[in-house]
Amino acid sequence: MKKSVRKAIIAGNWKMNKTRPEAKELLDALKPLVANADGKVEVVACVPFTNIDTAVSATEGSNIKIGAENVHFEKSGAFTGEISADMLVEAGVEYVVIGHSERRQYFGETDETVNKRTKAALAAGLKPIVCVGELLWERECGITEEVVARQIKLDLFDVSAEDVKKTVIAYEPVWAIGTGKTATADQAEEVCALIRATLAKLYGDETAQAVTIQYGGSMNAKNCAELLAKENVDGGLIGGASLKADDFNTIVQAAVEG
Ligand code: PGA
Repeated sequence: MKKSVRKAIIAGNWKMNKTRPEAKELLDALKPLVANADGKVEVVACVPFTNIDTAVSATEGSNIKIGAENVHFEKSGAFTGEISADMLVEAGVEYVVIGHSERRQYFGETDETVNKRTKAALAAGLKPIVCVGELLWERECGITEEVVARQIKLDLFDVSAEDVKKTVIAYEPVWAIGTGKTATADQAEEVCALIRATLAKLYGDETAQAVTIQYGGSMNAKNCAELLAKENVDGGLIGGASLKADDFNTIVQAAVEG
């Protein structure tokens, strides 16, 4: 299987941005711009929990899919402040970001909880976008490969081959997130290829070739084409540049052009 037959996915990660009126305004602006991507590139907006309703209504009948930015692993119970996978499905969510480095860094997320959340999301029918990536000092120490391979093995532990095909992996070098420092296209390709090789060891080549692997970390309107042209970069997870319709659309169009 080749890149051309894998699903290209461009997903915005809005993080803690946008009120509901602002969310509607952004999605209303985006809808006509990205309509031509239908059937070619999956366009996703991962939004704060409070915007899900607004986002689902605003994008009804369009080719924009809605995602959440986190999910809890238990079905229900005494977990103050948390949201379950069933609640997200009921709200009309299709994708969910799991294990983002900001959650690992600020909210104590571990590979174990990432694994639990991923399994809970899959069991509920959500498509997880599982984030992995090395810290700057880990790259400087020359252990990027080990770090990322370990994350893939732990985060996907006990996930079946069938479910892995529904899972998106986002390679996000932590030093590139929100810093304006993008990995070069060659650096992104090198690690995305390593992720695919790790998946091949765990699940076999056919499954590994079917998994969409995104790059994320200061991807923007200027650098997207070069990154997305790489064989193992099947899409992007975009923070800052997803908050402006024109910039996000430029990235979607770069993916449409392949
Ligand atoms: P950024 O964020 O594009 O603002 O670097 C990417 C991400 O955190 O997913």
